Amino acid sequence: MMLARKDLLGLRDVSAQEITLILDTAAQMKHLLSSSNKKSNHLTGKSIVTLFYENSTRTRMSFELASKYMSAVAANISASGSSVAKGETLIDTGRTLDAMGTDLIIIRHPMSGAPHILAKHTRAGIINAGDGMNEHPTQALLDMMTMREHFGGLEGLKVAIVGDILHSRVARSNMWGLTTMGAKVVWAGPRTLMPPASDKLPVECTDCVEDAVRQADVVMALRIQQERMEGGLIPSLREYHSVYGINAERLAMAKPGALLMHPGPMNRGVEVASNIADGDQSVINAQVTSGVAVRMAVMFLLTRRGER
Ligand code: CP
Repeated sequence: MMLARKDLLGLRDVSAQEITLILDTAAQMKHLLSSSNKKSNHLTGKSIVTLFYENSTRTRMSFELASKYMSAVAANISASGSSVAKGETLIDTGRTLDAMGTDLIIIRHPMSGAPHILAKHTRAGIINAGDGMNEHPTQALLDMMTMREHFGGLEGLKVAIVGDILHSRVARSNMWGLTTMGAKVVWAGPRTLMPPASDKLPVECTDCVEDAVRQADVVMALRIQQERMEGGLIPSLREYHSVYGINAERLAMAKPGALLMHPGPMNRGVEVASNIADGDQSVINAQVTSGVAVRMAVMFLLTRRGER
């Protein structure tokens, strides 16, 4: 089975069947990463462009490596080095890449909805690599892959997502994906960092971290996104860490053997204590490995759309 869709813009409208297909495909592809010959023909003849208007280490590099491992022709554009800096619009940039025969465009953009605009105006498939405060679907897929590898499934898990929920596209994509797969999601953080109308979303919300992590199977700490804060949302990073940071004492309130996750990049000593980030329960590096496998699967499935 293949995906029927042209684009992956978010997980809000992705079915449990599609998520399972992506995770199963990623699990099959993951062996390539530990092989001495990291080369397959899954994307031979396909052209992939990463178009990043915001900084990235993990997402951009994993898409680029995944493209190359699968024999695609891969190229990168950063906003500062492209004609965007001369005033070219996003739509014109997309049409230009279309005219060059690009099959997939991977876009990260500070504006929520930018990938959706691009998708409407391009023949190429669009993968959202993070848009503003909206979604980061491949991050949630790699998080789900990491959880599924550990627990064997996602249904019935309690996942506590703690920190700067307001600015987090990771929190939103995980909420949509995990609840579709039958997990329970609890968001915890200061009220100033909780999105408005979150009571209408399929999550439980609290400003008490201890309540959120108690009996959780997974504790996911989120980065404090100071670059998206106009000031005054938290008193100080030190105070934030003492009230909301994940430390050994708080992690011990979760189920025995609970996983500690973080999408990265991490602010050690702010949202997560350094000793547990490097501890036995941390799967932060495993998340990065899952990221390459998930991106291989998504690009493969989107470029084969329509095939059975
Ligand atoms: N998790 C994540 O999106 O990391 P980067 O910003 O490094 O891509």
